[in-house]
Amino acid sequence: MNIQNRNDWSSDNQVSLWSEKYRPKRVEDCVIPDFKKQELLYMLKSNNLPNLLLYGSSGIGKTTVARAMCEQLQCDYLFLNGSDIGLNFSEFKYSVQNYASTVSLFGGKKVIIIDEADNLASNAMKYLRGAMEEYAKNRRFIFTCNYSNQIIPAIHSRCAVYKFEIKTEEFEVMKKQFIDLACAILDKEEITYELDVIEKFLDKYFPDFRRVLNELQKHSKFGAIDESILEETNDDSIDLLFDTLKQNDFDGVRYWSKSHFRDIEPSEFYRKLYDSIDNHFEKSSRALATIKLNDYCYKSSVVQDQELNMTACLLDLMEIVNA
Ligand SMILES: Nc1ncnc2c1ncn2[C@@H]1O[C@H](COP(=O)(O)OP(=O)(O)OP(=O)(O)O)[C@@H](O)[C@H]1O
Ligand SMILES: [Mg+2]
Repeated sequence: MNIQNRNDWSSDNQVSLWSEKYRPKRVEDCVIPDFKKQELLYMLKSNNLPNLLLYGSSGIGKTTVARAMCEQLQCDYLFLNGSDIGLNFSEFKYSVQNYASTVSLFGGKKVIIIDEADNLASNAMKYLRGAMEEYAKNRRFIFTCNYSNQIIPAIHSRCAVYKFEIKTEEFEVMKKQFIDLACAILDKEEITYELDVIEKFLDKYFPDFRRVLNELQKHSKFGAIDESILEETNDDSIDLLFDTLKQNDFDGVRYWSKSHFRDIEPSEFYRKLYDSIDNHFEKSSRALATIKLNDYCYKSSVVQDQELNMTACLLDLMEIVNA
């Protein structure tokens, strides 16, 4: 990754959050598996943008790619966030209609990015399905989301669908590219570091690159990153949680959920518990604990109340750990 090519980084110096300041503005500069990157670049080269649905886990580059595609095509685009639209359907419909039905300032295609589209209500999705037909000639839609199963099939079938994921065989190459990118950013910020510390650190959050950058920024306040970053980010609160579970302490579990459910992404939480299964469960109960965790992890993508879902999961685990 050539830092010199990131000519756009310098223009964002006023932004203090690294994850925003160093958001790539070109698809070429995004870390994406090569095969997918080539397809996206071909769309740019041929100036032929289909409707797109980009989905995958947090901080992996979906919104970045959606914006970069529009910037590089130099087209007019409207950016809407599905989480903000909430119940205000008429305002949303008006924005889309108004934008899609007027002529582009640049005379070309106009694109509507619907970010975090899995938070759209079903009436908004149904409306978009119609709008995609109505404006099919010279309007394009790019949807990004974490959970593609929350997007109605009619939208799926009108889009080229890209799953943002890192397959096992791509893991090492992609990790290396993320490490290079993180080091380039640290160099630019004049932060000193040991390469092997950054490599170990990446293992912890990969492929959530937003999280990597946020944590690196947090730990580089004094101009250097050293081994303490690995210790500081070790989460002892999970060990504390298991002590509470082993004591059959219902109130303690409720308290733990209340004070932690906002601090941690649900999928990350269930993953962490899964990773610590060998330390806390008898061999005979690990399979059951895994099935429960998978079940609650799945539910976390649809439930209204994450705290309640987390507490219910922990109570199930409490029963298993004390059986
Ligand atoms: N593939 C990537 N290549 C380069 N930088 C990346 C990549 N993914 C994430 N980043 C960095 O992380 C930040 C967040 O990425 P982005 O907003 O694209 O994530 P996302 O996939 O849309 O996540 P979410 O699902 O939470 O919306 C970017 O501004 C960028 O700095
Ligand atoms: Mg996003």
